[in-house]
Parts: sequence; C-alpha cells; structure tokens
Amino acid sequence: MERVLVTGACGQLGSELSMALAGIHGSENVIVSDINGPIALLSGMTFEILDVMDRQAISEVILRYGITQVYHLAAMLSAKSEQNPELAWKLNVDGLINVLECCRQQGISRVFWPSSIAAFGPSTPSEKTPQHSVMDPNTVYGISKLTGELWCSYYFNQFGLDIRSVRYPGLISYKAPPGGGTTDYAIEIFHSAIKGEEFVCYLKQDTQLPMMYMPDAIKAAVQLMQAPASQIKVRTSYNISAIDFTAAQLAAEIMQHIPGFKVKYLPDYRQEIAATWPGSLDDSCAMSDWSWQADHNLKTMTEDMIRQLFIVRTTS
Ligand SMILES: NC(=O)c1ccc[n+]([C@@H]2O[C@H](COP(=O)([O-])OP(=O)(O)OC[C@H]3O[C@@H](n4cnc5c(N)ncnc54)[C@H](O)[C@@H]3O)[C@@H](O)[C@H]2O)c1
Repeated sequence: MERVLVTGACGQLGSELSMALAGIHGSENVIVSDINGPIALLSGMTFEILDVMDRQAISEVILRYGITQVYHLAAMLSAKSEQNPELAWKLNVDGLINVLECCRQQGISRVFWPSSIAAFGPSTPSEKTPQHSVMDPNTVYGISKLTGELWCSYYFNQFGLDIRSVRYPGLISYKAPPGGGTTDYAIEIFHSAIKGEEFVCYLKQDTQLPMMYMPDAIKAAVQLMQAPASQIKVRTSYNISAIDFTAAQLAAEIMQHIPGFKVKYLPDYRQEIAATWPGSLDDSCAMSDWSWQADHNLKTMTEDMIRQLFIVRTTS
C-alpha cells in the first residue's frame, strides 16, 4: 500500500492529479499540500499547509504520514517567472532540491516531478524535437526546468532515488484555473467563446505549440509512476506529445461549435517566450519505454472542453 504526498496540490495539475491518485490509492492514502488552500476539488483528502521552501516541514510531513511516494508539483510557471526571476529560481530549483533531499534521507520509493517543453530553447530543432537535443532555454522558467532535470538525474545516479519525470506541453483543462503559463491562452479562449465574447490572444495566430488535454497529462503521470523501474531509461525527463496546434487552428476548431466566435491577435511578451519553444516533440522514447500514447486530439479535446464548460456554466 502506498502513502502519497502531493505538493502544490491546489494548482491546475495538482488538483486533478490528486483526485486521480485518490481513486487509485484511496483518498485516505493521499496527503495533499500547498502553501495556500485547501480548495473544494481536494475535499475528502487530508490537507496540509506545506511550503516547499521549508525542508524541515517537508520532512515532518513525510514522517508523520508514513509517505512512500511524492508528487512534487509546487512551482512558478513561465509567464509569472519572468515577472519575478529570483523567486522563480528559488521555488523551482531550491524547492526541488529540498524535496529530493528529504526523499533521499527518508527512503521514499518513487518521486514524480514535471519538467516542461520550456527546457528547450531557440537553438533546439523546433519540429519533432528529439528526446536528446540542444537545450539552451532563455527564460528563467526554462533554465530552472533544465536544471531540475539534471538534479533529478544526479539524485538517481548518485543516490538511487527513483525519480521520474515528463516534459509536459501546455496543459488544457476546465476544473482549476491555469497558474500563469505561456500556454494559458488555450484555456482562456474557451471561456471567452462560451460567454460569447471576443477573445484577445497574446500570441500570434501562426504560433504553434505542443499541448495536452488534462486527462492525458494525468494518464502520463500515473502510467510513468506505475511502470517497473527497469523500463525507465531516461532519468532527466521524457518528451511526451499529444496535440500540436496554432492559435488560429484552435480558434477555427472552436468556431465549428460556436459560429461567429471572434479572435483578435495582440502579441505581448509571452509571444517572445513561445517563439523559443518547440512546435512539436518526438515522444518515441516514452512510447517504447513505458507505452506512452495520448488519447485526445484537437477535435475530441475541443468538444469535451466546450461540453464541460457549458455544464459548469449552466449548473453554477
Ligand atoms: N500547467 C501547465 O501547462 C504545465 C506545463 C508544463 C509543466 N507544468 C509543471 O507542472 C507542475 C504543476 O503546474 P500547475 O500548472 O499545476 O501550476 P499552478 O501554478 O497551477 O500550481 C502551482 C501550485 O504551487 C503552489 N505553490 C507555490 N509556491 C509554493 C510553495 N512555496 N510551497 C508549496 N506550494 C507552493 C501554488 O499555490 C499552486 O497551487 C509545475 O512543476 C509546472 O512547472 C505545468
């Protein structure tokens, strides 16, 4: 029986991943934590206020609940990080080292930590970016994710800590709001569309980015964590891929359901960040090592997002 700790559990990913973990391990075995909260989506699970900058507090929670697995999700996302680079570095790198060190000292059996497509940079081949490629991120978020990948690999090689990671694309979901990333437009656009409002997009219409619907993001984390250790050959972070689209392609797909929906393009500083990221990833290593395969495409994701947001709107 596993006892699971989730950090940053009130966030966009943490709230839904925690619910999925409660379904797998039992809600009594999932301890959810965040520097803020709790939130309604986490009801039924034990909640702890936990600041990942406080190593002693992390250790105490691991000990108190007999934790065996950790999902470390607390981080500052790309757009927010550019507003506060020093704090982003501290949270994303020092916070990770705190968690890794506590896990090492307390013999945690498995750790999940997400990296990001932001770990790539302007010199990375932008189409079908290979698993092993040039990585020269020029955002503080990307630098912190690349550094984090190397720390994960170091803890595996030096101490045998079984830490597993994926490079998430932009995550699209409707349950919890996005946390300040460069791909947030792909969620905000749906909210404008169902309200019948014009959407002002901060990216250029032809900017293509890799994206993923939340059920696939959860599937990736769960599948990777359930795979036998012998199958995990990449100890930095795995490329995973699902849906690649431009802002204009997403808008056109939404217009299939909401005719007359209008989008205006007014690029801001986030366009510069997006321009340094890949447009698509080669995820063949994840496919062959632990049978990764996304379920959702642009059509099924768009249909489901619109259906779910209409349900939320009519029932609230
Ligand atoms: N959402 C995406 O599109 C995306 C894409 C790639 C990678 N990721 C990664 O997935 C992870 C989760 O992302 P998310 O979208 O849920 O982010 P989010 O911003 O929605 O949530 C992060 C959570 O961390 C919490 N937090 C902040 N400082 C903390 C601290 N000191 N101690 C404890 N908790 C703290 C916040 O309160 C928040 O609830 C991050 O590592 C992120 O880099 C996300």
